[in-house]
Amino acid sequence: MKITLAFAAALLMLVTSSHAADKRQFVQLPEMMRDHMMRNMRDHLLALQTITRQLSDGEYDAAADIAEQRLGMSSIQSHGASHMAPYMPEGMRAAGTAMHQAASRFAVAARSAEVEGGLSRAFGALSEVMAQCVACHSAYRIH
Ligand code: HEC
Repeated sequence: MKITLAFAAALLMLVTSSHAADKRQFVQLPEMMRDHMMRNMRDHLLALQTITRQLSDGEYDAAADIAEQRLGMSSIQSHGASHMAPYMPEGMRAAGTAMHQAASRFAVAARSAEVEGGLSRAFGALSEVMAQCVACHSAYRIH
């Protein structure tokens, strides 16, 4: 009985502390937009996976195309970003914009890797894209 109580107390502490640890700002979105954003997110991850695979296969131009079309400035329209932007706090919008810009910069870096050889710059640029995924995820939630 004592053990069960101690266990329950420990569990309770764990639950409350993990709640307290979640300092992300909640952003309320209309349900359709939330679904749409989550779909985009899953596609972002798929795009990153495809890009890393293509880089390792030496398909630099293909990696650049995926980055530009699915994550870069060219993807903004298809993501419905202009509809969503008004619902987002400034910092969230900024992280989104920075991600699109970083992805377009990566596309340029990947194309020059094709010419110059060496993947160091391309991976550096890809890391800048991922830094924006991380920045937004650590600051905001929509659920
Ligand atoms: C502008 C903010 C922002 C940026 C930039 C961003 N995300 Fe997200 N992402 C979110 C939010 C908010 C959620 C939902 C988190 C929550 O509510 O718990 C999310 C969720 C996800 C999910 C979970 C999807 C699911 O169905 O469970 C994945 C995967 C994801 N993001 C991948 C990425 C990747 C990869 C990048 C970068 C290429 C990225 N995101 C960039 C805000 C962002």
